[in-house]
Amino acid sequence: MSDSQGSAGSAGTATTIDALLQESRRFPPPPAFAAAANVRDPSIYQRAHDDPEGFWAEAANRLDWYQRWDKVLEWNAPWAKWFVGGQLNASYNCVDRHVATWRRNKAAIIWEGEPGDTRTLTYRDLWREVNRFAAVLQDLGVRKGDVVAFYMPMIPELAIGLLACARIGAPHTVIFGGFSAEALRDRINDSKSKLCVTADGGWRRGSVVPLKDTTDAAVAECPTIEHVLVVQRVGPDVRQVNMQAGRDVWLHEGVEQVLRRTPHPIVAPEHLDSEHPLYIMYTSGTTGKPKGQLHTTGGYLVGTSLTHDWIFDLKDDDVYWCTADIGWVTGHSYIVYGPLANGASVVMYEGAPDFPDKDRFWALIEKYGVTILYTAPTSIRTFMRWGTEYPERHDLSTLRLLGTVGEPINPEAWMWYQQYIGGGRCPIVDTWWQTETGMIMITPLPGIVATKPGSATRPFPGIEPDILDEQGNSVPANTGGNLVIKRPWPAMSRTIFGDPDRYVQTYWAKYPGLYLTGDGARRDDDGYYWLLGRVDDVVNVSGHRLGTMEVESALVSHPAVAEAAVIGASDPITGQAIVAFVTPRGGQQPNDALTADLKEHVVRSIGALARPKRIYYTAELPKTRSAKIMRRLLRDIAEGRVLGDTTTLLDPTIVAQIKEQYASSEG
Ligand code: WTA
Repeated sequence: MSDSQGSAGSAGTATTIDALLQESRRFPPPPAFAAAANVRDPSIYQRAHDDPEGFWAEAANRLDWYQRWDKVLEWNAPWAKWFVGGQLNASYNCVDRHVATWRRNKAAIIWEGEPGDTRTLTYRDLWREVNRFAAVLQDLGVRKGDVVAFYMPMIPELAIGLLACARIGAPHTVIFGGFSAEALRDRINDSKSKLCVTADGGWRRGSVVPLKDTTDAAVAECPTIEHVLVVQRVGPDVRQVNMQAGRDVWLHEGVEQVLRRTPHPIVAPEHLDSEHPLYIMYTSGTTGKPKGQLHTTGGYLVGTSLTHDWIFDLKDDDVYWCTADIGWVTGHSYIVYGPLANGASVVMYEGAPDFPDKDRFWALIEKYGVTILYTAPTSIRTFMRWGTEYPERHDLSTLRLLGTVGEPINPEAWMWYQQYIGGGRCPIVDTWWQTETGMIMITPLPGIVATKPGSATRPFPGIEPDILDEQGNSVPANTGGNLVIKRPWPAMSRTIFGDPDRYVQTYWAKYPGLYLTGDGARRDDDGYYWLLGRVDDVVNVSGHRLGTMEVESALVSHPAVAEAAVIGASDPITGQAIVAFVTPRGGQQPNDALTADLKEHVVRSIGALARPKRIYYTAELPKTRSAKIMRRLLRDIAEGRVLGDTTTLLDPTIVAQIKEQYASSEG
């Protein structure tokens, strides 16, 4: 486990004496909050533990099914099928069923663009837009089972488009708008997408992100793409885009064509099998190739809807804001599917938190009366650095619950969030989960569970984690180990799209029958979970997951690079930062120009989110006798730790040389 602790962004913090002392700090649910909470009876934990299938079956009654399931779970480890025989439609559950109630005029999406333009869609509006979008998809030849890629800004059409796909049974795959053309191309090709939906641009920090240009570069090498559907977000006065005749279609023109046929298009939701694929979400792993996690319909919607209701204590008059991008799993589960299945009013914001000024988030909270805020520790640390004057400009008194996700939160940031954003009155839910888990897995229930700053607290009812040593034994309290999940859960990823063997190897081989999370964790004396960061070669930069191998492959594809090793070094703001150790090819002189070029090269291959923070040059990388690069040593160097055992190294003197270089360049 020494390795895992070394790799963890905040592991250092979590294991210092300071943090251990802070464990005695507990925040019980505020009495008024607890009295009105959606979940008030702690016996739910025991009941779910004793009869998990009964528990999940009861949860499934939250949804509308065309056909009830015959069997809650079919488990042939590691293959799970949930609500077998059941039929439903996610779009129906997120939209149509609310239109049949008083919620038809409730705000579904309260959207604000970065320039300040706004749009509010009621559930009825959402229903109309989803039907139109679905009709356009059909006109473009998209049928049940066809995959549709999205490369979009944070605008309502993204949520509408996903629901339109779900309506006709076309799985979607959203590629975060910060990825490069190469990354987009690889994901489109891996998923064999037939259509790519994009926009003429999106606003970010006052500039236009040229999404269509990037899409053009990508789809030029995507043989499965038949059409590109383009949303007009910024307009031709701001940015002219190339429209390739026969391939590219404007969404508004597609809608006009539909409306010429019928003024009120209705696309009936497909009755889909519970296990029908809902979406593919690519995530980084320990190899260079991203893994397409396949999520299906019934179990996923049950899991996201229940967790969203219970963990965020959703009430019908709440204004809920999750600041994630829909390009990540957090946006899928907790902007689109969970909240809309629950009939929530969801705030969606297009742009940067510091545009036009560093108080934009707080201005939005005041403007819309946000009651529930769900954001990332890296953002909280950034806000801390900016200072309290920004939140103090605004009335944040509507807030009643705060959440975090994406990485371990250091107790200092937790306390700051509680005090300066929550005014000392809001419970905080620190939610641990993954793209693979689909839904929140370890979290407080805010009306029942006392929180401790820095701990994600307890497993959600029905979830059974454990912490194991290398031999597979459950470790005692206060000992680090590998976090595993021992029982299947409804929103779990079903496979890696197109690569089931890799799914088995990555998650189910180390401890047969148990799901390996890739995270380190320990439990304290109260049974609370403290996450220690990744134990594998995955880094977490600002809550964005990247494989060190992906960045290494990008670097070695540059002609000046012979070899590269990439690590995540602790960073006070981003959690971890990418640090690269590069061996130049013979004849290449390392200099600032090369460093700048290498950084740009990585941005071109993956996207700005992967830009190395620092690059160090070294004649050789530290390797074991079996030629494995010892990243742990590089991490130790980068984080200034005393070096562990170096006797297994092929050439121990290399480490001293790198260390020296590192120290001199730091200064
Ligand atoms: C990390 C994001 C500590 C963890 C939903 C996990 C966390 C990875 C937390 C998944 C948390 C997420 N505390 N660590 N509350 N939430 N993580 O797939 O390392 O983008 O494995 O899913 O983020 O990142 P992913």
